[in-house]
Amino acid sequence: MSTRPRIPAPGTPAPGKLPITELAELKLRRQPIVMVTAYDAPSGRLADEAGADIVLVGDSAAMTVLGHDSTVPATMDEMIVLTRAVTRGARRPLVVADMPFGSFQVSDERAIENAIRFVKEAGADAVKIEGAGSMLTRAAGIVAAGIPVMGHIGLTPQSATALGGFKAQGRTAEQARRLLADARALEVAGCFTLVLEAVPAPVAARITEVLSIPTIGIGAGVQTDGQVLVWHDLLGLYSGSSPRFVKRYAELAPVIRDAVAAFADDVRARRFPENVHTYSMPDEELAAFETEMVENL
Ligand code: KIV
Repeated sequence: MSTRPRIPAPGTPAPGKLPITELAELKLRRQPIVMVTAYDAPSGRLADEAGADIVLVGDSAAMTVLGHDSTVPATMDEMIVLTRAVTRGARRPLVVADMPFGSFQVSDERAIENAIRFVKEAGADAVKIEGAGSMLTRAAGIVAAGIPVMGHIGLTPQSATALGGFKAQGRTAEQARRLLADARALEVAGCFTLVLEAVPAPVAARITEVLSIPTIGIGAGVQTDGQVLVWHDLLGLYSGSSPRFVKRYAELAPVIRDAVAAFADDVRARRFPENVHTYSMPDEELAAFETEMVENL
């Protein structure tokens, strides 16, 4: 049983935790960084056992586990519960909590307060915020409070409506220039990594070359410093189509559905539970119990 505190103070990483400075080393060594989302303790533990470097408790949880149509409805309280579960499971990877829509847009102060909640109440190692522009002072403020910040530009799902839907960003020279400028500004604001989502590969490669902080791509080509996939996409936990940038490494939805259907069949046919799943009692105790039952009738 590990004796390490579950929720270390910021600046005091838990024993065995990947040092955040290692990410820059990985970039320098051109060794790709592996990030995956997770939303509960078992998935955090499995991601850790599989060797992920970063586990993102994405606000994609709103869609993957809470059943919403977009990431927008995710609340701080929901994200705190999910992040707390993930930090109980994932020990070595850095656990990054995604700040949900509304938790950082209003003011720098609100952003800092909510980032502090993720660290104090959920044991997050870092937070992620979407966007640049007026979000730059949010990032700088949170960093100044001692909490590492991951940036996220390109397709930022919280503002998908303003971006004209879930579609690739930076496909014109002007948009690509703006993305590069935003990336640089987020680095200057103190971000330790930057997610590039749904960005043409050459643009992501150029941003990656220009920045000294690592970039993590999702739908951004192979030249970014790392890659991230959403847990449910990677494992095929959804039926139906996935975005172009998803590669499914397993098809678990039919496996799970078949297993639950087999359980249902066994229950209805009284094939489950079998003797091996059942507790017995000494014969004499059973006889005594039955005698008492008869006597008390
Ligand atoms: O919420 C999320 O899962 C994300 C990743 C797609 C980067 O932001």
